[in-house]
Amino acid sequence: MACLQTLTRSFSGWVFFCCCCCLPLLLTSPLPPKGAGVAFTAHHACRLRKISFQPYIRNHTYTLAKTARDSDQDTDNRLIGQQLYANVKESNHCYVMRRAVEMVVKDVLLTEAKDQYLYAKEVAEFLAALTQQLKHCEPSGQREQIERNLGEMKRKMEELGKNGKTKAIGELDLLFDYIENACTDAPKKGGHKKKY
Ligand SMILES: *[C@@H]1O[C@H](CO)[C@@H](O)[C@H](O)[C@H]1NC(C)=O
Repeated sequence: MACLQTLTRSFSGWVFFCCCCCLPLLLTSPLPPKGAGVAFTAHHACRLRKISFQPYIRNHTYTLAKTARDSDQDTDNRLIGQQLYANVKESNHCYVMRRAVEMVVKDVLLTEAKDQYLYAKEVAEFLAALTQQLKHCEPSGQREQIERNLGEMKRKMEELGKNGKTKAIGELDLLFDYIENACTDAPKKGGHKKKY
């Protein structure tokens, strides 16, 4: 007991010491507050340059999507959509799209589809390069919710079998727009800059 009291007292002593001596030092130090630094880095790790989204690659992606949609009769299911963002805050949307794109590249575009469709390989390379640029992008919290939403997309795609792949390719135009919107500070249509 006495030992505990001594411990407590010496602990209090340390707290007192830290408050009086270290805190003022920290406050006057020229380094920016840690929280701000982290937020700054995370934000930039989750940003792509608008210039990455060139008109020719948009055209090829849209054309590829259209080709696949022509052979997709199922209009009930949707893989890419707002449901991926369900209960996920906006600052984590870019991370969600990075993961969705990674899934589509790996599980769809780099499978037999790459020889089956014109532009599939080119679009796969483009998307893979985007996810590479986002490799340090991490979510702030909400990991479980994000995994749930992505898992739902994966489950739906697998459930549809081969049609699931065709559908994913048919929605590449959506995916392209989603990752662009989530990961660039692009001016919205109408010229209003997006607020963060
Ligand atoms: C892609 O470009 C070609 C040639 O400029 C054009 O004919 C076609 O409509 C474009 N496709 C899409 C989906 O924008």
